[in-house]
Amino acid sequence: MKNEFYDSNKTYEENYTDGPFGLFRKLPEQEYPKGQYSLFGIPIDIPFGIPAGPLLNSNFVRGAWAWGFSLATYKTVRGTEYPCHPFPNVIRLKSSGNVRPGDTLVGDLNIDSIDVMHDGITNSFGVPSRPVEVWQKDVRETLQEMTPGNLLLLSFMGTKSDTMTSSQYIDDFARTAKLAKETGAPVLEVNFSCPNVGKEGLICNDVETSSTILEAMKPVRGNVPLLVKVGYIPADQQSMLEALLDAIHDHASGVVSINTIQAKVTNDGGQQILPGSPVRLYSGVCGGAIRWAGLEMAERIMAYKKRKGWKDFVVIGVGGVVSPDDYFAYMKLGVDAVQSATGAMWKPDLAIDIRRSGIL
Ligand SMILES: Cc1cc2nc3c(=O)[nH]c(=O)nc-3n(C[C@H](O)[C@H](O)[C@H](O)COP(=O)(O)O)c2cc1C
Repeated sequence: MKNEFYDSNKTYEENYTDGPFGLFRKLPEQEYPKGQYSLFGIPIDIPFGIPAGPLLNSNFVRGAWAWGFSLATYKTVRGTEYPCHPFPNVIRLKSSGNVRPGDTLVGDLNIDSIDVMHDGITNSFGVPSRPVEVWQKDVRETLQEMTPGNLLLLSFMGTKSDTMTSSQYIDDFARTAKLAKETGAPVLEVNFSCPNVGKEGLICNDVETSSTILEAMKPVRGNVPLLVKVGYIPADQQSMLEALLDAIHDHASGVVSINTIQAKVTNDGGQQILPGSPVRLYSGVCGGAIRWAGLEMAERIMAYKKRKGWKDFVVIGVGGVVSPDDYFAYMKLGVDAVQSATGAMWKPDLAIDIRRSGIL
């Protein structure tokens, strides 16, 4: 039997309805150690978990908690129902090694035998979302099963349409923040590594828009901690990163860094490998191939936090964590917590490995 809890050979729908698969379908056979940590003053067993994406619904979150991932982020939801890009959504990269933004890579549709320690993957889902009433009900049910030591974070974002103005997009973020808060989720996370309106690039690359959205959400979210998910910002744009962190510090509670790195993915003949819209020529690389970027961002963010003396500013390190050593590499930088998406998908016992490695 395969261990993966998300089966990349099945459609998103099949995963949503019938998943999780692999190890998350059963309970661990042996007890594992519990530690004593906290995030936003909420006790957690270990500052480790799964970031927005692979935990599609309450069944997946339950599996994550059972397998020792204390910090479970419920997949990014939207304020309106939204479809998934056509299958396949996860492909293996033939080239290994560090991937940089805009690189051209050759993909392989056969994902049967991935070696997550070395192979990179790329994912292209388009951030699908169930209707609001479906995810709200599901999140509320998940919260009823949240036992002490575990924490649910709910990720959300605004939805862009072709006819939208920038201010309508900002309003949609605030509206969706309100819908997310209504669930009672103890921590919210807004995804800013998504397309902007009226400008090129991602929201997190536009400090002014990021700041305006955060301000618009402030009255809505009240006292609920809000994290901001950002993409990789290269070292030669350090001043932009610092301005973004200032805005996040002014209007939110912390940062989750990093999201996937966008690269051009083709078949052996140089053509777009993922079917459908031309936007799918670019997709998000994750796993070991982006560890360098996640660690580099975490280091720069921690240095800035220290320089500013922001004691309560929460930093969650993400990117390329596939082994206990990777977890420790992030924790050594001083981050508050670490999460793993790709590593956890293929190694659902990763949190237990970390807990057993003698740190608790
Ligand atoms: C299958 C999959 C789906 C993802 N979906 C989302 C998402 O909906 N929202 C989001 O903010 N990030 C999403 N991500 C990005 C992850 O949260 C994470 O930032 C990225 O994969 C880097 O971590 P990793 O190297 O551990 O995979 C997704 C990642 C994967 C692998």
